[in-house]
Amino acid sequence: MLAPQRVKIFVAKRVVLIIGGGIAAYKCLDLIRRLREREVQVRVVMTSAAQHFITPLSVSALTNERVFTNLFDLDDEREIGHIRLARDCDLIVIAPATADLLARMAGGHANDLATSVLLATDKPVLAVPAMNPHMWMNKATQRNVAQLKADGVHVLGPAAGEMAERGEAGVGRLLEVPQIITAVEGLLGGDQTAKTAAPPPPHDVSLASPRQHVLTGRSVLVTAGPTHEPIDPVRYIANRSSGKQGYAIAAAAARLGARVTLVSGPVSLPDPAGVDVVRVVTAAEMLEAAQAALPADIAIFAAAVADWRVAKPKPEKIKKGHGEAGVPKLTLTENPDILKTIAHLKRRRPALVIGFAAETQTLVAHARRKLKRKGADWIVANDVSPGTGIMGGDHNAVHLLSAAGIESWPDMSKDEVAERLMARAAADLSHYLTARTAAE
Ligand code: C5P
Repeated sequence: MLAPQRVKIFVAKRVVLIIGGGIAAYKCLDLIRRLREREVQVRVVMTSAAQHFITPLSVSALTNERVFTNLFDLDDEREIGHIRLARDCDLIVIAPATADLLARMAGGHANDLATSVLLATDKPVLAVPAMNPHMWMNKATQRNVAQLKADGVHVLGPAAGEMAERGEAGVGRLLEVPQIITAVEGLLGGDQTAKTAAPPPPHDVSLASPRQHVLTGRSVLVTAGPTHEPIDPVRYIANRSSGKQGYAIAAAAARLGARVTLVSGPVSLPDPAGVDVVRVVTAAEMLEAAQAALPADIAIFAAAVADWRVAKPKPEKIKKGHGEAGVPKLTLTENPDILKTIAHLKRRRPALVIGFAAETQTLVAHARRKLKRKGADWIVANDVSPGTGIMGGDHNAVHLLSAAGIESWPDMSKDEVAERLMARAAADLSHYLTARTAAE
């Protein structure tokens, strides 16, 4: 069952977003959109440096609110003073938190609107730093970050990777929006989830923090990619699956601290960090590898397994002109259904089994039937009709089906689908573990 109380986690929540002056400021536009989709009211404060990167006008168009920029603006102060800005909210998020902003926060400065709000607030504060790697590694920045953490500020990231400056790489990138959203979700959901005795939300959102690792001690099995079914040594039956969604799910599960086995068909993606990848080619091999990865607490079947294989692949390359009228006859046979096999295991069935349904017509009806027929707990259904750009693309629009009903998620990146799905699975896992224990 999808726990319904978690769907409403953001209702009537208010976030003050302080945008600092860094190249990553543009990502805040997407962050605002994603928060608004979740019914979060977003009030934005921009530093004067931030306004060199994005304009208050574009921010205000997204928030539907005026943007606050100046401590000494009489109109602003009369309408909503900095003290009200600091207090009339549930959380303050700073993104990108620049080296300068972190330094001023750590020193208790109040020389502009952003730092005055931060000094005056009694609400939780989440800082999401982004800066040049040398600035991040500088002892002064590290000292400031340590001070802020000691003062109770949540610090999320930065991530490693390439910088906007040519040839620069290292630790300093702003985390991706889905990761920020997951952290915000954890901080906003804290009180509500505590009341319902759900698993602990990812409260301490520093990346290295074990408290964000809500799946520590849990094991997750993910299948991804297509399978290739040989016709002869050089030809095979395949499909257009890129494996991106399954790889993103495996990465998201690992970030939550799970031990992850990713059983992957042939794709050209790199191994996700912290994931044990088992590469296979055929459906039969995928089934064997998936069974070998058990026991697992959660199993997610994102692979586009070929439904059929050639009954007797030829040991030698089939020559042109072979067979009747020069066309060889291929006899197909059905492949094992990996999801169905594992969902129906009496012993060692994972507590939460999640399948995918990729359809080109009557998506939800098909997915509902699949939920039953396959014995899955959840089905993630997506429309892969040509033109949607989903098969092989970077985005996805999914419906999440369970015995409790259906939830339709807006179009988002595959990374974000993965983050959301794993956050949801982690949150609801205890329910499924209890049900599994009762069934055994
Ligand atoms: O039957 P269909 O291929 O539409 O089902 C899709 C779901 O079943 C996906 O989760 C897919 O990974 C899984 N599946 C499987 N083994 C198969 C066929 C599908 O695990 N042979």
